[in-house]
Amino acid sequence: MSQAVDEIKIGGIGASRKRVEDNRFIRGKGNYTDDIVLPGMLHMEILRSPLAHARIKSIDASKAWDIPGVHLVLTGEMMATRNLAWMPTLSYDTQAVLATDKVRFQGQEVACVIADDPYIAKDACEAIVVDYEPLPVIVNPVQAVAEGAPVIRDDKENQPDNVIYDWEVGDRDGTDRAFASADLVSRLELHYPRSHPSPIECCGSIADFNRATSKLTVYMTTQAPHIIRAAVAMVAELPEHMIRIISPDIGGGFGNKVPVYPGYVCSILASILLERPVKWIEDKSGNLISTGFARDVYLKGELALRRDGKILAVRMHTDADHGAFFSDAQPSKFKIGLMHSAFAAYDIPVAHLTARGTYSNKAPGGVAYRCSFRVTEAMFFQERMMQAAADDLGMDQAAFRRMNFVPDEAFPHRTPFGFLTDSGQYAKCLDVGLTAIDYENFRQQQAEAHSRGRLLGLGISTMTEPLGAGNSREYDILGIKMFDSAELKVHMTGKAIVRTGARTQGQGHETTWAQIVAHELGIPAEDVVVEEGDTDTAPFGMGTYASRSTPVAGAAVAMVSRKIRAKARKLAAHLLEVSEEDIEWELGRFYIRSAPDRGVTIQECAVAAYANMPDGMEPGLDATAYYDPPNLTWPFAVYIVTVEVDPETGVWDVLNMVAVDDCGVRINPMIVEGQIMGGLTEAYAMSNMQFITFDADGNCVGANYMDYLLPTAWETPGFELHSEVVTPCPHHPIGAKGIGECAAVGGPAAFVNAVLDAIKGTGVRNIDMPLLPDRVWEAVTYRRDVSGAPPVRSDD
Ligand code: CDP
Repeated sequence: MSQAVDEIKIGGIGASRKRVEDNRFIRGKGNYTDDIVLPGMLHMEILRSPLAHARIKSIDASKAWDIPGVHLVLTGEMMATRNLAWMPTLSYDTQAVLATDKVRFQGQEVACVIADDPYIAKDACEAIVVDYEPLPVIVNPVQAVAEGAPVIRDDKENQPDNVIYDWEVGDRDGTDRAFASADLVSRLELHYPRSHPSPIECCGSIADFNRATSKLTVYMTTQAPHIIRAAVAMVAELPEHMIRIISPDIGGGFGNKVPVYPGYVCSILASILLERPVKWIEDKSGNLISTGFARDVYLKGELALRRDGKILAVRMHTDADHGAFFSDAQPSKFKIGLMHSAFAAYDIPVAHLTARGTYSNKAPGGVAYRCSFRVTEAMFFQERMMQAAADDLGMDQAAFRRMNFVPDEAFPHRTPFGFLTDSGQYAKCLDVGLTAIDYENFRQQQAEAHSRGRLLGLGISTMTEPLGAGNSREYDILGIKMFDSAELKVHMTGKAIVRTGARTQGQGHETTWAQIVAHELGIPAEDVVVEEGDTDTAPFGMGTYASRSTPVAGAAVAMVSRKIRAKARKLAAHLLEVSEEDIEWELGRFYIRSAPDRGVTIQECAVAAYANMPDGMEPGLDATAYYDPPNLTWPFAVYIVTVEVDPETGVWDVLNMVAVDDCGVRINPMIVEGQIMGGLTEAYAMSNMQFITFDADGNCVGANYMDYLLPTAWETPGFELHSEVVTPCPHHPIGAKGIGECAAVGGPAAFVNAVLDAIKGTGVRNIDMPLLPDRVWEAVTYRRDVSGAPPVRSDD
């Protein structure tokens, strides 16, 4: 009889184990960057530009220097003497650290003051006098390419205009031919507005340069400590082994904490110059106005359709507004991220995507806010186009999607843009969703309500999303390949520590990585401690964003556990005095095949690794694994929302929302549900209430939490989650697919589609997000589309 340990009891895969990190978080014992106080520490504040585009005629910092308690005032001119006025971005552009020639967006960093406390530093910033000469301002791609537009990046050679790139992918000619043979072409134009990750904790750093050891230690809020170490080595020209980046607890990241920000660089230089620790903690407005935005992408989309509903081809053009510097954190090869993952769930013969990126006088954007490099925009465009096309055909929304899905038996499936999707049960997920929302019944209710003047709507969003960038053949950032890593040390007592190159910022890695070890080795999860975020101790990895942790670092944890198991098998053979070939494994224990009662536990093998190893064997039980995934993982999701729209006010209420997520094997079902709940909440917020934009002068409108609303439990509707469909990833060692961002990616289209479905009779094709009541009211009342593209209208 098996003597294997019970996987659920030891907190292995499938156990809804309580999050171990919450032991300290709910007691207020988290250790965030701002909690760290070092002896002799000084404080840094940043002076930001009030104007969006202006030439700097002069900067007079003399009054700031005179304020008691001020130790240093940094300006662009001083930075330039050390070759630090500009820094490279993660997308092969340059970005001003402190402005020298011009300011290029409102909120840009102009000077820094380092003082005894943050209040003195802030007062001293206000004493700096900057003489600006205002210049014409650009806030959208149309203005960027208009005849006679001012060139924003006149600092760059060979940059005669505001175009950053023109990029294309797919088959242009084949797509043209397919369109020529279509029965019907469905068209849609829309704007996915800027949105902003709003972590509770803003960005910050504490740089501590020790002249005696030449070592620079930086505590900072980064989702990718090793990338930052490489960037600091490049920018500050310090040797990499003398740089230690420590990312302590992070109060939310959502992509906002991937880029390199000027504040980090200035605090580092200040610490080197002053030989004292320098802390910089951003305030909320500073975070909203200057750090990495997301989205701000325009779509012109077309679907070539056969009369029976078959999609023959897709044509997409996107204009991406990147702000003043092209600083996207994304794989080098893809100029507009993974936008071309659009329509991967559908069986479409041919497609073509063109993308143009332009500069504007806005903070540099392009971070993947809870998103795998523009996948959010891709899936939003896709699902908005799917709804418009079904309406144009006069077809049922669900039936139209179903007839175009990649069928279960067609995997692996090559998408028209070149991705390889490898698994899924799309129709089954849709069925679960439709049953849960009681689809037919709702359609009847909707028709009845409509006859009485009430506007009910149902929106569907179905998508497969590429998560887990990525394989080193295709994915790199600044040339560094996007693999990940895990190191596992099993101590003599059978307890263990696992370290990875990822960095949790709320996802629960401390809980789930231990569950993977438990699954692979049978060591109880509570006996495994997880550590991440210190470049001096963690193995090299590319960090946590784009839902890549489980697909890449999680896979590395499984692989390193298997290395440990392989060595433990040799130890077991030695202890049992048989050859390795005679040994079998069951969870937590090796036994002799011919005598199953005779076995040794993994813990006994651990003791032997230190106390009783065979002759010639290297002592100890630890290993490191670097994992280069063969492909992305492709989770699938169905989100269905029902709403009621009040035509008198434009207010819309969610009646019901159903989510069906297939992310393969769920390591911790409770954490997965938490991830989906959070993602749906953000999707609802983006579609309903988060308003941040720019006026014609480039003023950022909405850089505060009175306009850019964060939903609380009060505003957030209830969500019904379904986990019935599980299609393991064929190449991931434990069959898991990413999940962290699916709901935030696929959710927005479901909400918007529901509102547009409710007002279908008006002929309105699009209302840009957020679907604020005045926009919906305008659409219903005047029967016209409502654009949200900047500059903001005077009545917004
Ligand atoms: O990269 P990031 O951690 O943001 O995203 P993720 O790996 O997709 O998932 C977030 C969390 O959900 C992690 O803590 C995972 O361990 C957990 N998860 C899971 O339990 N099962 C899955 N199939 C995927 C994720």
